[in-house]
Amino acid sequence: MKIGICSDHAGLEYKTRLISYLLGKGYEVVNFGTDSPESCDYPDFAHPLGSAVENGEVDCGIALCGTGNGMAITLNHHKGVRAGLAWGTSIAALVKEHNNANVLVLPARFISYRMAVSCVRTWLTTSFAGGRHQRRIDKIPC
Ligand code: RB5
Repeated sequence: MKIGICSDHAGLEYKTRLISYLLGKGYEVVNFGTDSPESCDYPDFAHPLGSAVENGEVDCGIALCGTGNGMAITLNHHKGVRAGLAWGTSIAALVKEHNNANVLVLPARFISYRMAVSCVRTWLTTSFAGGRHQRRIDKIPC
């Protein structure tokens, strides 16, 4: 599985550590930046990841910023992208099971790195439930 990942400066440390974690688990990882601790604008990194998910260049994505909201709002402008925020493992499971999120968004300034890894592991290993949830997803595009 090929996973795209991006962050702004607020998510850089967790992104760097998550890349090592994912590579160690055998995933292919495409890093869309940022790779600098300098203050930057989250859309500059969210849009390349969103385009890659939209075009099928990666199978799914992980995005991190301070609150997670900037990344999620930006990513969800991309056709076919369902970016969902998680700050705990129950939400990380449900965002896949119910919403089939193809991008997991993490609020780096509000969770520990340990929790970030737990959310990623849970989201990657949970299956979409389909059924009534597919019907609801089909109604999302406007
Ligand atoms: C950066 O200070 C912060 O605004 C950003 O990481 C994110 O929280 C925006 O939604």
